[in-house]
Amino acid sequence: MLNVALPKGRLGERVYAMFAAAGFECPAVLEESRKLIFENPGAGVRYFWVKPSDVAIYVERGAADVGVAGKDILLEYAPDVYELLDLKTGKCRMAVAGPADFRDDRRRPLRVATKFAHIASEHYAAQGRDIDLIRLNGSIEIAPILGLSDVIVDIVETGKTLKENDLTVLETIVPISARLIANKAGYAFRRQQIEQLRRSLAAQTEEFT
Ligand code: PRP
Repeated sequence: MLNVALPKGRLGERVYAMFAAAGFECPAVLEESRKLIFENPGAGVRYFWVKPSDVAIYVERGAADVGVAGKDILLEYAPDVYELLDLKTGKCRMAVAGPADFRDDRRRPLRVATKFAHIASEHYAAQGRDIDLIRLNGSIEIAPILGLSDVIVDIVETGKTLKENDLTVLETIVPISARLIANKAGYAFRRQQIEQLRRSLAAQTEEFT
């Protein structure tokens, strides 16, 4: 049985539709229930719903053979997994945002609030800009409004959250989308099955974007 970790939520449902169309169906997945594990022995597949930011951990440690994780998580945590395919869904971008009239004062460290400490640090290190990193877990947009930070590094999808909090994108760091990832040992062991999945999903990506 191929073990698949899917990110709980809207993205996961879209991704499941792609897996189903690729021949890995398990209709019970879409049942309204609190169950987190579903299997279809006929199709040789077992799905788990996990927190999106945890998918890479399940895959890295081999609890799942494959999974779907955002490129943001892969860049931030650099899990030791294979990245097999850009699913071209769940598209958004990692960006620096702040008040529209923000002017950087390079005489002092830039105060950056974010959940993505590694991505933010790398971004500013590449520019040779000193930062004071403020790690938050959510509602990042509040930080510059309250003067806790100068800017934020966060995910922007529609831009609605920024707009409603009077913030704007100052710089795009990297485009983000959902990726198919695989456990390294699992890939070696189930190469044929996983490659078949990758090929079928690749054929689906155009239709589902
Ligand atoms: C993300 C991100 C922004 C929002 C951006 O949060 O942190 O707050 O989405 O989306 P938008 O551009 O379409 O408004 P998410 O909803 O994933 O929740 P989180 O705060 O738990 O990360």
